[in-house]
Amino acid sequence: MFDTFEIPQNLIPSDPRFGSGPSLVPVEFLESLAKTGMHFMGTSHRKPAVKNVVKELQDGLMKYFQVPSDYLVVLGNGGATLLFDMIALGIVEKRATHFTCGEFSEKWFKSSKLIPWIETEQVSVAFGKGINGKAVAGSDLIAVTLNETSTGVQLSSLPTVDANTILAVDATSGGGQCPCDISKTDIYFFSPQKVFASDGGLWVAIMSPKALARAKKIAADKSRYVPDIMNWTNAITNGEANQTYNTPALATIFIMNEQVKRMNQIGYAEVQALAQKKADLLYGWAESKPYLSCFIEENEFRSIAVATIDVDSKVNVDDVIKFLEKKKVVYGIDGYRKLGRNQFRISMFHNISYADLEKLTVLLSAMIESKL
Ligand SMILES: Cc1ncc(COP(=O)(O)O)c(C=O)c1O
Repeated sequence: MFDTFEIPQNLIPSDPRFGSGPSLVPVEFLESLAKTGMHFMGTSHRKPAVKNVVKELQDGLMKYFQVPSDYLVVLGNGGATLLFDMIALGIVEKRATHFTCGEFSEKWFKSSKLIPWIETEQVSVAFGKGINGKAVAGSDLIAVTLNETSTGVQLSSLPTVDANTILAVDATSGGGQCPCDISKTDIYFFSPQKVFASDGGLWVAIMSPKALARAKKIAADKSRYVPDIMNWTNAITNGEANQTYNTPALATIFIMNEQVKRMNQIGYAEVQALAQKKADLLYGWAESKPYLSCFIEENEFRSIAVATIDVDSKVNVDDVIKFLEKKKVVYGIDGYRKLGRNQFRISMFHNISYADLEKLTVLLSAMIESKL
Protein backbone atom coordinates (compact mmCIF):
# COMPACT_ATOMS: atom_id res chain seq x y z
CA MET A 1 0.00 0.00 0.00
CA PHE A 2 2.90 2.39 0.71
CA ASP A 3 5.43 0.91 -1.71
CA THR A 4 5.78 4.17 -3.61
CA PHE A 5 5.93 6.36 -0.48
CA GLU A 6 9.25 8.20 -0.17
CA ILE A 7 10.25 8.75 3.46
CA PRO A 8 11.63 12.29 3.75
CA GLN A 9 15.17 12.13 5.16
CA ASN A 10 14.45 14.81 7.77
CA LEU A 11 11.62 12.73 9.23
CA ILE A 12 13.71 9.66 10.00
CA PRO A 13 13.98 9.38 13.80
CA SER A 14 17.47 9.11 15.29
CA ASP A 15 16.40 5.77 16.85
CA PRO A 16 13.65 3.55 15.42
CA ARG A 17 12.57 2.01 18.75
CA PHE A 18 9.19 3.30 19.97
CA GLY A 19 7.95 0.02 21.47
CA SER A 20 6.28 -0.32 24.87
CA GLY A 21 8.61 -3.08 25.97
CA PRO A 22 11.16 -4.34 25.34
CA SER A 23 12.08 -0.72 24.91
CA LEU A 24 14.94 1.38 23.63
CA VAL A 25 18.20 0.26 25.27
CA PRO A 26 20.79 2.99 24.64
CA VAL A 27 23.71 1.73 22.55
CA GLU A 28 26.07 3.53 24.99
CA PHE A 29 24.91 1.17 27.74
CA LEU A 30 25.83 -1.83 25.61
CA GLU A 31 29.22 -0.24 24.96
CA SER A 32 29.72 0.35 28.71
CA LEU A 33 28.87 -3.28 29.32
CA ALA A 34 31.34 -4.39 26.64
CA LYS A 35 34.01 -2.27 28.33
CA THR A 36 33.75 -4.37 31.52
CA GLY A 37 35.45 -7.04 29.40
CA MET A 38 36.48 -10.03 31.48
CA HIS A 39 35.53 -8.56 34.85
CA PHE A 40 31.74 -8.58 35.02
CA MET A 41 29.91 -10.87 32.58
CA GLY A 42 30.75 -14.46 33.47
CA THR A 43 31.63 -13.70 37.10
CA SER A 44 29.67 -14.79 40.18
CA HIS A 45 26.59 -12.93 41.37
CA ARG A 46 27.69 -13.80 44.93
CA LYS A 47 30.97 -11.82 44.55
CA PRO A 48 31.68 -8.06 44.88
CA ALA A 49 31.98 -7.29 41.14
CA VAL A 50 28.28 -8.05 40.69
CA LYS A 51 27.00 -7.42 44.23
CA ASN A 52 28.39 -3.89 44.13
CA VAL A 53 26.39 -3.17 40.98
CA VAL A 54 23.25 -4.61 42.59
CA LYS A 55 23.85 -2.42 45.64
CA GLU A 56 24.39 0.64 43.47
CA LEU A 57 21.14 -0.19 41.67
CA GLN A 58 19.20 -0.64 44.94
CA ASP A 59 20.61 2.61 46.37
CA GLY A 60 20.00 4.39 43.08
CA LEU A 61 16.31 3.40 43.11
CA MET A 62 15.92 4.46 46.76
CA LYS A 63 17.39 7.85 45.87
CA TYR A 64 15.45 8.27 42.65
CA PHE A 65 12.07 7.54 44.22
CA GLN A 66 13.00 9.14 47.57
CA VAL A 67 11.94 5.93 49.25
CA PRO A 68 11.77 5.92 53.08
CA SER A 69 14.94 4.29 54.45
CA ASP A 70 13.05 1.38 56.07
CA TYR A 71 11.84 0.14 52.67
CA LEU A 72 13.79 -2.60 50.87
CA VAL A 73 14.50 -3.09 47.17
CA VAL A 74 14.18 -6.82 46.43
CA LEU A 75 15.04 -8.44 43.08
CA GLY A 76 14.40 -11.83 41.53
CA ASN A 77 14.02 -13.76 38.32
CA GLY A 78 10.83 -14.20 36.34
CA GLY A 79 9.65 -10.67 35.63
CA ALA A 80 6.48 -9.01 36.92
CA THR A 81 4.41 -11.99 35.82
CA LEU A 82 6.11 -14.16 38.42
CA LEU A 83 5.28 -11.57 41.06
CA PHE A 84 1.61 -11.84 40.17
CA ASP A 85 1.72 -15.38 41.60
CA MET A 86 4.26 -14.64 44.28
CA ILE A 87 2.18 -11.82 45.78
CA ALA A 88 -0.98 -13.91 45.80
CA LEU A 89 0.86 -16.91 47.28
CA GLY A 90 2.82 -15.12 49.95
CA ILE A 91 1.45 -11.64 50.69
CA VAL A 92 -2.35 -11.97 50.57
CA GLU A 93 -3.65 -13.18 53.90
CA LYS A 94 -7.31 -13.92 53.19
CA ARG A 95 -8.70 -11.70 50.49
CA ALA A 96 -7.44 -9.53 47.65
CA THR A 97 -9.33 -6.95 45.60
CA HIS A 98 -8.01 -6.26 42.11
CA PHE A 99 -8.92 -3.12 40.20
CA THR A 100 -8.66 -3.98 36.52
CA CYS A 101 -8.76 -1.96 33.32
CA GLY A 102 -6.91 -4.01 30.67
CA GLU A 103 -5.01 -7.17 29.79
CA PHE A 104 -2.25 -6.97 32.39
CA SER A 105 -4.38 -6.03 35.38
CA GLU A 106 -6.77 -8.85 34.39
CA LYS A 107 -3.92 -11.28 34.07
CA TRP A 108 -2.80 -10.43 37.60
CA PHE A 109 -6.37 -10.91 38.88
CA LYS A 110 -6.67 -14.26 37.10
CA SER A 111 -3.47 -15.62 38.60
CA SER A 112 -4.55 -14.59 42.12
CA LYS A 113 -7.92 -16.22 41.58
CA LEU A 114 -6.30 -19.60 41.02
CA ILE A 115 -4.87 -19.72 44.55
CA PRO A 116 -7.34 -21.88 46.50
CA TRP A 117 -6.66 -20.55 50.01
CA ILE A 118 -7.46 -16.89 49.29
CA GLU A 119 -10.52 -15.11 48.00
CA THR A 120 -10.01 -12.82 45.04
CA GLU A 121 -12.39 -10.10 43.98
CA GLN A 122 -12.32 -8.11 40.74
CA VAL A 123 -13.58 -4.56 40.25
CA SER A 124 -13.29 -3.72 36.58
CA VAL A 125 -13.96 -1.02 34.05
CA ALA A 126 -14.18 -1.41 30.28
CA PHE A 127 -10.88 -1.37 28.38
CA GLY A 128 -10.13 2.26 27.58
CA LYS A 129 -11.46 3.55 30.90
CA GLY A 130 -9.38 4.27 34.01
CA ILE A 131 -9.87 3.16 37.60
CA ASN A 132 -7.93 4.24 40.70
CA GLY A 133 -9.10 1.67 43.21
CA LYS A 134 -9.96 2.10 46.88
CA ALA A 135 -9.74 0.30 50.20
CA VAL A 136 -12.34 -2.46 50.50
CA ALA A 137 -13.62 -3.77 53.86
CA GLY A 138 -12.46 -7.37 54.36
CA SER A 139 -9.66 -7.22 51.77
CA ASP A 140 -6.10 -7.29 53.12
CA LEU A 141 -4.49 -6.54 49.75
CA ILE A 142 -5.51 -3.96 47.16
CA ALA A 143 -4.03 -4.48 43.69
CA VAL A 144 -3.78 -1.60 41.22
CA THR A 145 -1.86 -1.06 37.99
CA LEU A 146 0.08 2.18 37.62
CA ASN A 147 0.11 2.08 33.84
CA GLU A 148 -2.04 -0.40 31.94
CA THR A 149 0.24 -1.05 28.97
CA SER A 150 -2.46 -2.72 26.88
CA THR A 151 -4.76 0.30 26.79
CA GLY A 152 -2.63 3.31 27.82
CA VAL A 153 -4.38 4.33 31.04
CA GLN A 154 -2.54 5.36 34.16
CA LEU A 155 -3.69 5.88 37.74
CA SER A 156 -4.63 9.46 38.52
CA SER A 157 -4.36 8.91 42.29
CA LEU A 158 -3.45 6.16 44.73
CA PRO A 159 -5.93 4.47 47.04
CA THR A 160 -5.37 5.02 50.76
CA VAL A 161 -5.25 1.84 52.82
CA ASP A 162 -5.11 1.17 56.57
CA ALA A 163 -2.32 -0.37 58.65
CA ASN A 164 -3.60 -3.94 58.05
CA THR A 165 -3.90 -3.65 54.28
CA ILE A 166 -1.19 -3.97 51.66
CA LEU A 167 -1.31 -1.66 48.66
CA ALA A 168 0.37 -3.49 45.77
CA VAL A 169 1.11 -1.48 42.62
CA ASP A 170 2.10 -3.08 39.33
CA ALA A 171 4.39 -0.34 38.04
CA THR A 172 5.85 -2.42 35.22
CA SER A 173 5.41 0.02 32.39
CA GLY A 174 4.91 3.31 34.23
CA GLY A 175 7.41 2.82 37.04
CA GLY A 176 9.97 5.61 37.10
CA GLN A 177 7.94 7.94 34.92
CA CYS A 178 4.26 8.07 35.90
CA PRO A 179 3.58 10.01 39.12
CA CYS A 180 3.47 7.82 42.23
CA ASP A 181 4.49 8.42 45.84
CA ILE A 182 6.11 5.13 46.79
CA SER A 183 5.93 5.96 50.49
CA LYS A 184 2.15 5.50 50.13
CA THR A 185 2.56 2.00 48.63
CA ASP A 186 3.60 -1.33 50.15
CA ILE A 187 4.82 -3.25 47.12
CA TYR A 188 5.73 -1.20 44.08
CA PHE A 189 7.01 -3.64 41.48
CA PHE A 190 8.13 -3.68 37.88
CA SER A 191 10.21 -5.40 35.21
CA PRO A 192 13.13 -3.42 33.79
CA GLN A 193 12.40 -3.64 30.06
CA LYS A 194 10.21 -0.52 29.99
CA VAL A 195 11.16 2.90 31.42
CA PHE A 196 14.25 1.33 33.00
CA ALA A 197 15.55 0.46 29.54
CA SER A 198 17.04 -2.93 30.26
CA ASP A 199 16.24 -6.47 29.20
CA GLY A 200 13.36 -8.59 30.52
CA GLY A 201 13.42 -11.52 32.91
CA LEU A 202 14.04 -9.69 36.19
CA TRP A 203 11.54 -8.37 38.74
CA VAL A 204 12.13 -5.53 41.16
CA ALA A 205 9.89 -4.95 44.19
CA ILE A 206 10.22 -1.94 46.48
CA MET A 207 8.69 -3.12 49.77
CA SER A 208 7.46 -1.23 52.81
CA PRO A 209 8.07 -2.48 56.37
CA LYS A 210 4.38 -3.47 56.40
CA ALA A 211 4.83 -5.65 53.30
CA LEU A 212 8.05 -7.17 54.64
CA ALA A 213 6.29 -8.05 57.90
CA ARG A 214 3.31 -9.56 56.06
CA ALA A 215 5.62 -11.66 53.85
CA LYS A 216 7.47 -12.98 56.91
CA LYS A 217 4.24 -13.73 58.78
CA ILE A 218 2.79 -15.74 55.88
CA ALA A 219 6.09 -17.56 55.28
CA ALA A 220 5.89 -18.76 58.88
CA ASP A 221 2.55 -20.45 58.10
CA LYS A 222 3.85 -23.85 57.04
CA SER A 223 0.43 -25.05 55.88
CA ARG A 224 0.89 -23.07 52.64
CA TYR A 225 3.11 -24.70 50.04
CA VAL A 226 5.07 -22.04 48.16
CA PRO A 227 7.82 -23.08 45.69
CA ASP A 228 11.26 -21.91 46.80
CA ILE A 229 11.66 -19.59 43.80
CA MET A 230 8.52 -17.74 44.92
CA ASN A 231 9.35 -17.77 48.60
CA TRP A 232 9.47 -14.22 49.98
CA THR A 233 11.89 -15.08 52.77
CA ASN A 234 14.42 -16.26 50.19
CA ALA A 235 13.88 -13.14 48.10
CA ILE A 236 14.10 -10.72 51.03
CA THR A 237 17.20 -12.32 52.57
CA ASN A 238 18.94 -12.14 49.24
CA GLY A 239 17.79 -8.56 48.68
CA GLU A 240 19.35 -7.59 51.99
CA ALA A 241 22.60 -9.17 50.77
CA ASN A 242 22.51 -7.41 47.35
CA GLN A 243 21.77 -10.68 45.62
CA THR A 244 18.99 -12.71 44.07
CA TYR A 245 17.85 -16.16 45.19
CA ASN A 246 19.02 -17.83 41.99
CA THR A 247 21.34 -16.75 39.19
CA PRO A 248 20.20 -13.56 37.43
CA ALA A 249 21.05 -12.23 33.96
CA LEU A 250 24.00 -9.98 34.79
CA ALA A 251 23.64 -7.83 31.68
CA THR A 252 20.07 -6.95 32.69
CA ILE A 253 21.24 -5.72 36.08
CA PHE A 254 24.16 -3.78 34.60
CA ILE A 255 22.08 -2.00 31.97
CA MET A 256 19.30 -1.15 34.40
CA ASN A 257 21.85 0.37 36.75
CA GLU A 258 23.14 2.56 33.89
CA GLN A 259 19.60 3.78 33.28
CA VAL A 260 18.95 4.51 36.96
CA LYS A 261 22.19 6.52 37.07
CA ARG A 262 21.08 8.45 33.99
CA MET A 263 17.63 9.18 35.44
CA ASN A 264 19.13 10.20 38.78
CA GLN A 265 21.12 12.92 37.01
CA ILE A 266 17.91 14.86 36.48
CA GLY A 267 15.64 13.27 39.11
CA TYR A 268 12.13 11.84 39.17
CA ALA A 269 10.30 15.20 39.04
CA GLU A 270 12.10 16.27 35.86
CA VAL A 271 11.64 12.82 34.25
CA GLN A 272 7.88 13.15 34.86
CA ALA A 273 7.83 16.70 33.48
CA LEU A 274 9.61 15.57 30.28
CA ALA A 275 7.17 12.67 29.93
CA GLN A 276 4.23 15.05 30.32
CA LYS A 277 5.63 17.21 27.48
CA LYS A 278 5.82 14.16 25.22
CA ALA A 279 2.28 13.17 26.19
CA ASP A 280 1.03 16.69 25.38
CA LEU A 281 2.72 16.40 21.99
CA LEU A 282 1.16 13.03 21.10
CA TYR A 283 -2.33 13.67 22.44
CA GLY A 284 -2.28 17.18 20.96
CA TRP A 285 -1.37 15.68 17.59
CA ALA A 286 -4.21 13.13 17.84
CA GLU A 287 -6.70 15.85 18.74
CA SER A 288 -5.60 18.14 15.91
CA LYS A 289 -6.12 15.62 13.08
CA PRO A 290 -9.60 14.63 11.86
CA TYR A 291 -8.42 11.08 11.08
CA LEU A 292 -7.01 10.46 14.60
CA SER A 293 -8.56 10.19 18.04
CA CYS A 294 -7.29 9.46 21.54
CA PHE A 295 -8.45 6.00 22.64
CA ILE A 296 -8.50 7.17 26.27
CA GLU A 297 -11.24 9.76 26.49
CA GLU A 298 -10.86 10.66 30.16
CA ASN A 299 -8.01 13.17 30.27
CA GLU A 300 -6.99 12.39 33.85
CA PHE A 301 -6.29 8.74 32.99
CA ARG A 302 -4.27 9.35 29.81
CA SER A 303 -0.89 7.74 30.27
CA ILE A 304 2.32 9.74 30.04
CA ALA A 305 4.21 6.50 29.35
CA VAL A 306 2.21 4.83 26.55
CA ALA A 307 -0.14 6.68 24.17
CA THR A 308 -2.91 4.84 22.33
CA ILE A 309 -4.22 6.61 19.25
CA ASP A 310 -7.00 5.32 17.02
CA VAL A 311 -6.81 5.86 13.28
CA ASP A 312 -9.64 6.28 10.75
CA SER A 313 -10.54 2.89 9.29
CA LYS A 314 -9.83 4.22 5.75
CA VAL A 315 -6.14 3.65 6.47
CA ASN A 316 -5.00 0.30 7.84
CA VAL A 317 -2.36 0.91 10.54
CA ASP A 318 -0.84 -2.53 9.91
CA ASP A 319 0.20 -1.38 6.42
CA VAL A 320 1.83 1.75 7.88
CA ILE A 321 3.61 -0.26 10.58
CA LYS A 322 4.81 -3.01 8.22
CA PHE A 323 6.22 -0.48 5.76
CA LEU A 324 8.11 1.48 8.43
CA GLU A 325 9.47 -1.71 10.00
CA LYS A 326 10.62 -3.01 6.62
CA LYS A 327 12.47 0.25 6.05
CA LYS A 328 13.96 -0.06 9.61
CA VAL A 329 12.72 3.44 10.39
CA VAL A 330 10.14 2.76 13.15
CA TYR A 331 9.67 -0.32 15.35
CA GLY A 332 7.01 -1.34 17.84
CA ILE A 333 4.08 1.05 17.42
CA ASP A 334 1.40 -1.64 17.01
CA GLY A 335 -1.67 -1.50 19.23
CA TYR A 336 -2.04 -4.24 21.82
CA ARG A 337 -2.96 -7.26 19.69
CA LYS A 338 -5.92 -8.47 21.77
CA LEU A 339 -7.58 -5.04 21.68
CA GLY A 340 -7.99 -5.53 17.94
CA ARG A 341 -8.27 -1.81 17.14
CA ASN A 342 -6.93 0.20 14.22
CA GLN A 343 -4.55 1.83 16.63
CA PHE A 344 -1.00 3.07 17.19
CA ARG A 345 0.46 2.47 20.63
CA ILE A 346 3.49 4.68 21.04
CA SER A 347 5.82 4.56 23.99
CA MET A 348 7.05 7.80 25.56
CA PHE A 349 9.59 6.09 27.81
CA HIS A 350 12.38 8.28 29.09
CA ASN A 351 14.97 7.39 26.44
CA ILE A 352 12.66 8.18 23.53
CA SER A 353 13.38 11.77 22.63
CA TYR A 354 10.82 14.51 22.13
CA ALA A 355 12.44 15.34 18.78
CA ASP A 356 12.01 11.76 17.57
CA LEU A 357 8.37 11.70 18.65
CA GLU A 358 7.85 14.95 16.77
CA LYS A 359 9.34 13.41 13.62
CA LEU A 360 7.23 10.30 14.09
CA THR A 361 3.99 12.26 14.27
CA VAL A 362 4.80 14.22 11.10
CA LEU A 363 5.87 11.06 9.28
CA LEU A 364 2.74 9.13 10.27
CA SER A 365 0.54 12.06 9.25
CA ALA A 366 2.27 12.29 5.87
CA MET A 367 1.73 8.58 5.24
CA ILE A 368 -1.92 8.60 6.32
CA GLU A 369 -2.74 11.79 4.40
CA SER A 370 -1.20 10.31 1.23
CA LYS A 371 -4.04 7.76 1.31
CA LEU A 372 -7.02 9.97 2.21
C1 LIG B 1 1.53 -3.54 33.26
C2 LIG B 1 2.30 -4.79 33.05
N1 LIG B 1 2.35 -5.71 34.02
C3 LIG B 1 3.03 -6.85 33.89
C4 LIG B 1 3.71 -7.16 32.73
C5 LIG B 1 4.46 -8.45 32.62
O1 LIG B 1 5.83 -8.21 32.66
P1 LIG B 1 6.86 -9.37 32.31
O2 LIG B 1 6.62 -9.75 30.88
O3 LIG B 1 8.20 -8.77 32.54
O4 LIG B 1 6.57 -10.49 33.24
C6 LIG B 1 3.70 -6.24 31.68
C7 LIG B 1 4.41 -6.53 30.42
O5 LIG B 1 4.33 -5.86 29.44
C8 LIG B 1 3.00 -5.04 31.85
O6 LIG B 1 2.97 -4.13 30.87
